[in-house]
Amino acid sequence: ANKLGSKKERTLAMVKPDALTRIGDIIQTIYDRNLILTKAKMTKLSWEQAADFYAEHQSKSFFNNLLQFITSGPVIAMDIMGDEAVSTWRELLGPTDSDTARREATQSLRARFGTDGTQNAGHGSDSLASAARELEFFFPSTVGRGPPNTAKCTDC
Ligand code: TYD
Ligand code: MG
Repeated sequence: ANKLGSKKERTLAMVKPDALTRIGDIIQTIYDRNLILTKAKMTKLSWEQAADFYAEHQSKSFFNNLLQFITSGPVIAMDIMGDEAVSTWRELLGPTDSDTARREATQSLRARFGTDGTQNAGHGSDSLASAARELEFFFPSTVGRGPPNTAKCTDC
């Protein structure tokens, strides 16, 4: 808990190529859930960058498909902040498979904007440790310039 008594966190949210044109709706959804967008960057990942970002999945059968998709067009990486940002953002995304998401009673970003189990509109860090690593991946901190990318938000 920070000085105000709430568990402010930061997480890395990424809008994937299939949902890029829905960025307006996605930012609206973030603010409707009381999360705040503090950084955003559009970039096209190289194959090597994508393999680094998704290194934990390198032995999975879907790794190649995942990299093919994530490098197929630009992505928008966002640093979002707020109460329990890590789990809240993943909740907003919904289940990994967009078709599963569409079968759920509560709607989610993947239900609304995702395509299938690979093209699923967005990414969210799965823990504070992942958030720190993934924030650093997209928004590298420079010594002496700005606060470090610790996902636990002590500076806000
Ligand atoms: P994973 O980390 O399991 O899901 P999440 O994004 O919800 O944390 O998987 C990473 C991405 O890999 C997922 O968003 C889409 C892709 N993927 C597939 O293409 N096929 C699969 O069977 C799985 C599990 C994931
Ligand atoms: Mg994951």
